[in-house]
Amino acid sequence: MALGFSPRAFCVTLAAFTMPTVREDFDCIALVSNGEWNHNSHYHEFLLAHVPSRCTQALDVGCGAGAFARLLAARADHVLGLDFSPQMIRLARERSRQYPNVEFQVADAMTWAFPREHFDCIASIATFHHLPFEEMLAKMRDALKVGGVLLILDLHQTRGLSGFFVNVLAMPVHLALRLVRTGRLRSRREAREAWKQHGLNDVYLPLAQVRRLCARVLPGAEVRRHLLWRCSIVWRKEAGR
Ligand SMILES: C[S@@+](CC[C@H](N)C(=O)[O-])C[C@H]1O[C@@H](n2cnc3c(N)ncnc32)[C@H](O)[C@@H]1O
Repeated sequence: MALGFSPRAFCVTLAAFTMPTVREDFDCIALVSNGEWNHNSHYHEFLLAHVPSRCTQALDVGCGAGAFARLLAARADHVLGLDFSPQMIRLARERSRQYPNVEFQVADAMTWAFPREHFDCIASIATFHHLPFEEMLAKMRDALKVGGVLLILDLHQTRGLSGFFVNVLAMPVHLALRLVRTGRLRSRREAREAWKQHGLNDVYLPLAQVRRLCARVLPGAEVRRHLLWRCSIVWRKEAGR
């Protein structure tokens, strides 16, 4: 009998003996991640279109396995990817060996000391719903240089009648895109189970609340709803903010 390491068995065992935290969830997700297309990577091009053409310093908060940090590497002298999951950072480093200007750190965004007015671009993808929204917006705003750009993509609450219509429109698009991009209608079983476990504790803000908080902290920010259950925030820092 072949005795191999099974990510799924590891995660199930971990969940049985501990109350899994978000970090442990992502350590498990990292073990089953193969870097294929997903609802977040679908919006990379949209986000990249707002990155300044030349950045000295770029930051990706909650960088996961580093896919967007690697895209930023083409625009920036130095990219820093932060994530509090050691397994995600291990994977990000493994996948970024060919990118000498990308650095990854295991760090909790809630306690990391954001340097003031340091970055030309700060991105954060599918991470904000794990963070205190308003406090983190303010920290990232203060860490941007004048002229710098903040780019956030996150999930938002889709409930009620409008949520129903979003689902009716988004589902066929989601299925068609997944089939074209991955050759399958569903993700692999291991990945589905790891995400299902994580999703049990996820809470998303309604879009109206995202807009209200942005208006308070990032006046003039462009908040957009996207079809695949995501919203984006794009904000450029002007002098005096
Ligand atoms: C859904 S994943 C998205 C990863 C990546 N941005 C992407 O688009 O593939 C969310 C990431 O945020 C990280 N994360 C959540 N809370 C965090 C925190 N407080 N500090 C740093 N990273 C955090 C998780 O470990 C996870 O890798």
